[in-house]
Amino acid sequence: MTTTTDDNLGFILGRRSIRVYSPGEVNALAVTRLLEAAMAAPSAMTRDPWRFVVVRERQTLSKLATLHPGAAMLASAAVAIVVCGDLDVAFERHISYLLQDCAAATENLLLAAHAQGLGACWVGIHPGEALVKRVKELLSLPASFVPVAVVSLGQPGEQAPPRTRYNAAHVRAERW
Ligand SMILES: Cc1cc2nc3c(=O)[nH]c(=O)nc-3n(C[C@H](O)[C@H](O)[C@H](O)COP(=O)(O)O)c2cc1C
Repeated sequence: MTTTTDDNLGFILGRRSIRVYSPGEVNALAVTRLLEAAMAAPSAMTRDPWRFVVVRERQTLSKLATLHPGAAMLASAAVAIVVCGDLDVAFERHISYLLQDCAAATENLLLAAHAQGLGACWVGIHPGEALVKRVKELLSLPASFVPVAVVSLGQPGEQAPPRTRYNAAHVRAERW
């Protein structure tokens, strides 16, 4: 059973991970709009602990691409946005709030990329301790920053169809 044919919800189902990019830039205005969407996400006590590093330098993108096998597409991305959280700013200085806020921001960013016709993919960093350390060093992040994810972005070089992953078995009414 699909849940909806509604246009707005259909837009959400149409967001897919795009890992192949064709040549072409993602201009500064487009990136600013992505960041505005990211910073519109819900945030515990509106602390907005998210911080973003926009990476365009090919050398840095290539280094990010070697972090782990699932990061390889970063080598051909036009731009990467590294989503970080500042633990000193997060509600109760709690890593869980930092991660929840940054995850919400990341999803908003991915939806905004989809809205702009860009290809994008979430590349995991946290909780890999070695990955967090390498990204902090590579990007000269302050000590209180935690890199949570990298979003790779580019003009789409592959298509992925909208799909539902609605699963009624994952839902109970009133109690489990
Ligand atoms: C926390 C997290 C980490 C992820 N890390 C990676 C990654 O490192 N590389 C990758 O290609 N995709 C990564 N993804 C994307 C998932 O593989 C993808 O969202 C999932 O397969 C569902 O496909 P869809 O995004 O097309 O709906 C990650 C997603 C999340 C939420």
